[in-house]
Amino acid sequence: MKVMEIEGQRELSGTIRISGSKNATVALIPAAILTDEEATICNIPEITDTNALCDILQALKVDVKRASESIIINPKQMENIEITEDLSKKLRASYYFMGALLGKFKKAVMYFPGGCSIGARPIDLHLKGFEALGAKIKEENNKYTVEAEELKGANIYLDIASVGATINIMLAAVRAKGTTIIDNAAKEPEIVNVATFLNNMGAKITGAGTSTIKIQGVDSLHKCFHEVIPDRIEAGTYITIGALCGNPLKIDNVIPEHIDALLSKLEEIGVDIEVGADYVSVKKQEKYKPTIIKTAVYPGFPTDLQQPFTILLTQSCGKSKVIETIWENRFMHIPYLRELGANISVNNQTATIVGPTKLKGTEVVATDLRAGAAMVAAGLFAEGKTTITNIEHILRGYEQIVEKLTSVGAKITIKEI
Ligand code: UD1
Repeated sequence: MKVMEIEGQRELSGTIRISGSKNATVALIPAAILTDEEATICNIPEITDTNALCDILQALKVDVKRASESIIINPKQMENIEITEDLSKKLRASYYFMGALLGKFKKAVMYFPGGCSIGARPIDLHLKGFEALGAKIKEENNKYTVEAEELKGANIYLDIASVGATINIMLAAVRAKGTTIIDNAAKEPEIVNVATFLNNMGAKITGAGTSTIKIQGVDSLHKCFHEVIPDRIEAGTYITIGALCGNPLKIDNVIPEHIDALLSKLEEIGVDIEVGADYVSVKKQEKYKPTIIKTAVYPGFPTDLQQPFTILLTQSCGKSKVIETIWENRFMHIPYLRELGANISVNNQTATIVGPTKLKGTEVVATDLRAGAAMVAAGLFAEGKTTITNIEHILRGYEQIVEKLTSVGAKITIKEI
């Protein structure tokens, strides 16, 4: 078993460079099979979610070449084989193969996806979208067969602005006959990045980044070169760590407008922050003000940053609140924060944090990816040693986290025990 050990209370200074976005990468890799030619994608993060998707590509007999930070995907010889339960369950984003295989072969067979247990995470909106395009869906013991004689453009209204459903419907519709309109589409920057990739391959998508996306179906897609956008959640995590321990900590390769909601909350609580064209520099302060965070779809405060941000709120003078509106099970880090010394209570979907409190290192668990990031932030700030177990969650989404933090002065190691 791998554990992460952190000796806390060290000042962090220097520069951390942000990697390519995990949530964009995990959609771009399945999207690449929609062409019959070669797709080259650069700025791919070296994380276990990327490896899991490459395993699926290989099972589908797609030619995959990986060089540093780049991936060349050639689906010329690919076969539309059932994706096994084992591969489907390795990550949430395996479900993008449903849309991509349906779009390319008019048939996809795979199992319910895996991923962090942060809520029920249904895929009903994805399936409704596929049905609107003409697909029939059969589900038996978690195995989904999605099949269409012909895919035809349709008007699709999403009851919830779901990131996954928006992208998956885009993938299925890109080679459908006629025009598809997705209303109440999610607006996250990762969706824009995927639409840009598909358009680079010859797709006709407009409106990505707004709540109405229009997709004019095309017969085929050609080869292309594409770059993954910087990871706004990784950036937000390190910026939050900078507010706890930075003296100063510069976070480089950032698109600041992607993290506007975070930056304005940091300013509101009194964090010393400098925002450049493609970087953010943060210096820790002795005292922070309390605030209220309410998670929301983009451009609101991202649910994925709520957990790391809570560590900062344990250092605010007074009562803060975190209201989680997206996932029903995203407070699993709270019991561990209490063990570290935080004063937090949870009532329904609201956490109330009273600060400031000292944090003292102990043994904690990374219950999911971003809860794991919160444990790292807490461990870096806490007195003494923090040991984190279940770190495979963290390694799914943070490239070279130990190397990046060590390079700015942290004492952090991964040990096999
Ligand atoms: C993506 C992100 C995840 C982030 C989330 C919200 C990826 C790989 N993951 O997850 O990091 O936390 O967006 O910003 O990009 N829902 C349904 N039915 C559906 C689909 C979703 O009810 O068919 C609900 C979900 O239960 C949730 C809400 O819609 O309450 C938002 O989910 P969604 O935007 O789909 O999240 P993901 O794409 O899974």
